[in-house]
Amino acid sequence: MAHKKKEFNVVQLLEKSHDETFQRTDQFRDLLINLRYEGKLSLGKNLKQAEDVLKFFSQEHAGHMQFEEEILFPYLKSHVPKLEPVIYLLHAEHLDFKNNLKNFENLIGELSKERQESDRAVIFEKIRETGAYLIFLLRSHNQSESESVYKVIDRELHDDEKEELAEKIEKFLP
Ligand SMILES: [Fe+2]
Ligand SMILES: [Fe+2]
Repeated sequence: MAHKKKEFNVVQLLEKSHDETFQRTDQFRDLLINLRYEGKLSLGKNLKQAEDVLKFFSQEHAGHMQFEEEILFPYLKSHVPKLEPVIYLLHAEHLDFKNNLKNFENLIGELSKERQESDRAVIFEKIRETGAYLIFLLRSHNQSESESVYKVIDRELHDDEKEELAEKIEKFLP
């Protein structure tokens, strides 16, 4: 009889979470396009979409990063010491992402206030730049994580170690 715990695997759970993030970056990109090309009349609709995008990244995606920072990265640093430099870099990218997401959130807040058209145009430009950077950062971060640390988990950890991580992940992911 198959061992029940092996039905879920920590790498599969993490990759599933990356897949969802990837889809959300598409929604994020559409939002940037809409904000750029749709006029004032669609602003309410677009601000609502921005709220939805921000909610995902500040909740679900934040949970994913929290699991990596509090559980996965320290665990890998002690079990696979050669990963330490790449983990340091990945952690720095998380901080960069969080700071830029906060900026993006503030800019969206600015946009919802009543403003002159010229001020609005400046805010739109900053939103476009910050948003494009966030999308780029997320995609390249997740890709390098999948190709480095996630591959190592699969290859170098024992089944019981993977199960231990898989059990811990549930608390952080919805
Ligand atoms: Fe990460
Ligand atoms: Fe990740």
